[in-house]
Parts: sequence; C-alpha cells; structure tokens
Amino acid sequence: MHRKALYPGTFDPITLGHVDVIERAARIFERLVVAVAETTLKEPLFSLEERVALAREVTAGFGNVEVDTFRGLLVDYARARGIHVLVRGIRAFSDFEFEFQMALTNRKMAPDVETLFLMPKEDYSYLSSSTVREVAELGGDTSSFVPPPVQAALERKYRR
Ligand code: COA
Repeated sequence: MHRKALYPGTFDPITLGHVDVIERAARIFERLVVAVAETTLKEPLFSLEERVALAREVTAGFGNVEVDTFRGLLVDYARARGIHVLVRGIRAFSDFEFEFQMALTNRKMAPDVETLFLMPKEDYSYLSSSTVREVAELGGDTSSFVPPPVQAALERKYRR
C-alpha cells in the first residue's frame, strides 16, 4: 500500500488547476510531495525559488503537503525519496499523448514507480500556465485562474 505520492511539474506558475489536483491527491494519500522541476526544457518565467515560494504559500493550508525541488530524472528523485506513485493531471484529450509518453518512459526506467492520473475540476480544464502568463503580460485579470499570491507575483513580474 502506498501512503506517499509525488506531484511533479514546472509550476510556472502554479494555477488553480494545479491546486485542484493537489487537493484531490492530498485526500487520497497520507503525504503528498509537490516537486518543482529545477531544470526542464522550458525556460521558466519564474525562477525556481519563486515557483517554490508560490507553491508553498498556496499549499500552506494543507497539513499533509510538502513542496520540494528536484533536478535530473524524476524517477531517480522519486526513488531517492522512497515514493513510488507519481500523480499527474489530465485536463483534456490533448494532454493524453504527452502524459502517455512520459508515464511509459518513466515506467520503462522504473517499473516500480506507478503514474496515477487525476482529472481537475471541469472549470479548470482549459487552464494552463502559459495562458495565464500571456493574460498577465497583456494586462488581463488572472484572478479566476490563479490563487491571490500568484496573481500578485504576476503583476509584479509584468509591472512596467
Ligand atoms: N491545471 C492547470 N494546468 C495544468 C494542469 C492542471 N491540473 N496540469 C497541467 N497543466 C498545464 C500547466 O499549466 C502547463 O501549461 P503550459 O505548458 O502551457 O505552461 C502544462 O500543463 C504542464 O506543466 P506542469 O503541470 O507544470 O508540468 P510539466 O509538464 O511542465 O512537468 C515534468 C513536466 C517536470 C514532470 C517532466 O518534464 C519531468 O519529469 N522532468 C524531469 C526529467 C525527466 O525525468 N524526464 C523524463 C520524463 S519522460
């Protein structure tokens, strides 16, 4: 039986959709580690420290959620932490191919690590961090997409 799970991502920035997945996973597992990727192929808007600080702030209310960072292979980090369940959100059919590739690649490298998919609330099924960044950059209101601390951070980032 698994008590701990890992929710990895770039979280650039963390959105209400991510928080919804965290809430669901935190109800299933005794402990959830939100793992912010240090290096990815993406060039993040927010630094690792900023992404972690925001993730910590918006998950502070969950007693069983911890935010950490990782670099290198996700499965190596999971094994080093003794965690064998990865949680990912699937918003729409378009997420499937990427998630399918990632889950099977991870499974090939680490057959003892299972990926579990959760569906975020329908209200957030269209949300993505890049859309949020674009709206913020163009001066739009992001309050229905991200928690208040993230909204404030976006405003600071794009303040001209
Ligand atoms: N709500 C809202 N948005 C969501 C979401 C949800 N529930 N789930 C995913 N997204 C969106 C994000 O907003 C983001 O959108 P964007 O690309 O338009 O900005 C996108 O989906 C995915 O971002 P995120 O959820 O932060 O995760 P990711 O796909 O960037 O994470 C890693 C990928 C870090 C887990 C993966 O690259 C990894 O494991 N890297 C480590 C190296 C490794 O092991 N590689 C081999 C793996 S095959």
